[in-house]
Amino acid sequence: MKKLLLIGLVSVTSTASTAALASGHSMPVADAWSNITWDKSAKDMPKGDYARGEKLHSYGLCITCHGEQGIAPSRNAPNLAGNTVLYTYKELQDYKSGLRNEGNGKASVMHAATTPMSNQDMADVAVYYAAQKLPAPTGNYTPPANIKKLVTKGDVSRMITPCASCHGVHGEGRDITPALAGQVPAYFIRTMAAYKHGKRTNDINEGMAQFTQDLTDAEIQGLAEYYANLMPKNPAPAAGKE
Ligand code: HEC
Ligand code: HEC
Repeated sequence: MKKLLLIGLVSVTSTASTAALASGHSMPVADAWSNITWDKSAKDMPKGDYARGEKLHSYGLCITCHGEQGIAPSRNAPNLAGNTVLYTYKELQDYKSGLRNEGNGKASVMHAATTPMSNQDMADVAVYYAAQKLPAPTGNYTPPANIKKLVTKGDVSRMITPCASCHGVHGEGRDITPALAGQVPAYFIRTMAAYKHGKRTNDINEGMAQFTQDLTDAEIQGLAEYYANLMPKNPAPAAGKE
């Protein structure tokens, strides 16, 4: 009886996935997080092991796209250094489950990278990245007044909450709210556009989708420059001063 039931289950799932493949959607479809399901997942997160995380980063090929110590070498991939443990852990879960799927091929790279990862592996790399430091930004940058206002005061007329109220005044993030200081601008712009156009929908309650809805492309560009030039709370020591 038990065996029959099992066979029944297997054939149902394999038919479903064949249908999904046939229609060109090879990415699994996952349920959105509720506060309750996420809280449970965060509570069940294994304790991360830094040394294992460091090894996984190199041997798991993460280093090829995300760079030494999670400092991205190109305009394409995001920096991972200095992000919060819970945010990195959540994103890896979301790529693996297919919940984070911007439909531009880049998420499928990350789906493939996370498929073999266990929760323990994800916690390990998350702890490793959180302990890495981004270099201080170079160059002179003065934020335009309208951008500084969006970050620190928001815009009541468009119901935009100040970015800093969640992401921190140093753009350092907290828990599942990501750090933004020093983030790669091209990635920042791409992911903000994905929220705005309803393509990135993995955030709980789709808060970011609401805040991006009424931002103009010029404002998104300005915010990307603002955060790229924001001094991280704990920058890496300047070269030669270590
Ligand atoms: C072939 C290149 C490539 C490889 C290999 C790769 N990544 Fe990524 N990763 C990307 C790109 C590109 C993105 C941004 C995707 C998007 O726009 O959704 C990304 C996104 C991420 C994010 C989300 C960051 C954020 O700020 O939201 C995390 C975390 C991450 N990768 C971790 C890893 C880990 C851990 C590995 C190794 C197991 C890995 N990546 C391997 C290219 C890669
Ligand atoms: C109410 C809290 C809140 C406010 C206000 C907020 N954010 Fe976010 N933001 C979040 C959370 C939470 C996430 C992570 C969502 C997820 O799980 O993918 C996020 C994600 C992001 C990301 C993606 C980072 C990455 O590495 O992929 C960017 C960029 C971002 N926010 C920029 C902004 C900007 C700019 C503003 C102000 C206009 C802003 N946020 C306002 C909570 C907030």
